[in-house]
This record gives sequence, structure tokens and C-alpha cells, in this order.
Amino acid sequence: MAEIVLSVEDVSYSYASMDEEDVKALKNVSFDVERGSFVAIIGHNGSGKSTLAKLLNGLFLPKEGRVLVLGMDTQDEDLTWQIRQNAGLVFQNPDNQLVTTIVEEDVAFGLENLGILPADIRVRVDEALEAVGMEAFAMAAPHMLSGGQKQRIAIAGILAMQPQILIFDESTAMLDPMGRREVLSAVRKLQQTKDLTVLWITHFMDEAAQADRVIVMDGGRIVMDDTPQQIFRRADELEQIALDVPMSVKIAREMQKNGVELDCVPIGMQALAEAVCRLK
Ligand SMILES: Nc1ncnc2c1ncn2[C@@H]1O[C@H](COP(=O)(O)OP(=O)(O)OP(=O)(O)O)[C@@H](O)[C@H]1O
Ligand SMILES: [Mg+2]
Repeated sequence: MAEIVLSVEDVSYSYASMDEEDVKALKNVSFDVERGSFVAIIGHNGSGKSTLAKLLNGLFLPKEGRVLVLGMDTQDEDLTWQIRQNAGLVFQNPDNQLVTTIVEEDVAFGLENLGILPADIRVRVDEALEAVGMEAFAMAAPHMLSGGQKQRIAIAGILAMQPQILIFDESTAMLDPMGRREVLSAVRKLQQTKDLTVLWITHFMDEAAQADRVIVMDGGRIVMDDTPQQIFRRADELEQIALDVPMSVKIAREMQKNGVELDCVPIGMQALAEAVCRLK
């Protein structure tokens, strides 16, 4: 059994409202995350994904239940900095995350605030830029970069803090298909080579299909939590909560309607091609 790096225990969260009842955004949510895993979180608009993301690094505190980051309770104010440093949160729009006029200064920004020595900052910035494949752009101006490149710089800024857990809240939503693939593959590589734990919130089912595990949210609750194979088998149930399945699964379903049965639920185009080749 791998080490648990993140524990969400019976967490509820509500937003205060002036004129109506409070909005219950999360209701009794519980799950654990193992070190080194890549977990996708899906759910339609308003299902509670972003609220959950902000609870995972202590930006929000649970109204009920508790969140443990590497065993540290997010309610403990003395641990807030340590928790934020270990659980980095990357948002949707890279423009809101870049603050200076030179890429390497941007990546160094958080470190200066942490009081890291200049020589160490140099090493960490170089390593972080290399990790996202942006070392050639160290002296570039962030506003001159493409969306995908900017997002990779934002990720480098978080990586430089050397977190053990990375949480991405629709971080590829603003990118074109190429930029999306770039960022996701950079993150996957980091997860595998540096044993980072990744939580990947997305509306793209093809991205969720690449995860080790998929958590499905609906109305502030977790309604499914399983491998992509098991989750995307349940296409009809997903449809009822306004969710889609990956393209490869859609094609397999269309084939089935036309009388061609594959021997598996193909997750990804490669798996689909292989299943088709196995047909007699
Ligand atoms: N600042 C806020 N004040 C009041 N209610 C909020 C606030 N932020 C979110 N909510 C409500 O909480 C619920 C969950 O919102 P949340 O942003 O977590 O959903 P989400 O799954 O991230 O949605 P999306 O896919 O649109 O990003 C929704 O009903 C939403 O309207
Ligand atoms: Mg959201």
C-alpha cells in the first residue's frame, strides 16, 4: 500500500449568501490520494470541483470534516505556509499567474518570498524551467509567449517551490489542442520521474481517460471513484449527470449499435485501434 499524501475526511463546505440560503458546494466528501498517483476529477459546471481544489491546499477551510496534506491539518494556521508549499495549485488562466516581465524572474518570484538563498534560487529556477521544457525561454518576456508556453511557465513557478502535490484546476481549458497536449505531457512526465502526486480537474474526457483514477462529482458529492476503464463503462449514468465519455469509447458504442462488439471498453485511440485489429 502506497503512502497516503492527501486525506479528505467527510468534508462539507458552503458559501454564505446574503439573500438566500447558503450554497452547499460540497457535501460529505471523503477520499484519500496515494503518493505518485495521477487522479482526474470530472463533473459538470457547479458540481464543486474548484471549491474542492481550494480546500486541498488550505486556501479554503472545511466547515465540517478535515483535510490532511502530508498529515498536516489545513485548519492549523501554523502550518498554512508549509501546506501551500507542498500542495501547489495551478489555475485556468496563466495570465493571472504571471507577475513579472522576465520568465526566470517569474519562476523565482515565489522563492524570493520564501526567503530561499539566491544561489539555491538559481538552481531551482533552472531545474523547474527544464522540467517543463522552457529553459530556452528563461530571458523571454512572458507576454510574448503562447498560452501553452505561459501555462508551462506558471507550472514552473509552482514546481520551483518543490511541492509534492500538484493540483490543476482546468489548467488546459484556455489552450488549443496542441497546447493542451504539451502541458498534460509535461505534467505526466513530472509525475512519473519526480514521483509527484497530481490532481487534474478537467472537462476533457480524453484527458481524464489518461489518469490512473477518476473521481466523478455531482451536486457537491463524489458519485463515482474508480479507474478510467470502470468509469467510462458507465456511459449511460455519466450522461444522466451531463458528462460525456472519451472519443474512443463513443466510437466503440456506435460500433456496438451497428452490431460490432469489441472485447473491451477502449480507453484512448491506441486501445481502440488494437481492439479493432483483434476483430476477426
Ligand atoms: N464565491 C462563491 N459564492 C457563492 N457561491 C459560489 C461561489 N463559488 C462557487 N459557488 C457555488 O458553489 C457551487 C460549486 O462551485 P464550483 O466553482 O466549486 O464548481 P465547479 O465544479 O468548479 O464548476 P465549473 O465546472 O463551472 O468550474 C456552485 O453551485 C457555485 O454556484
Ligand atoms: Mg471550476
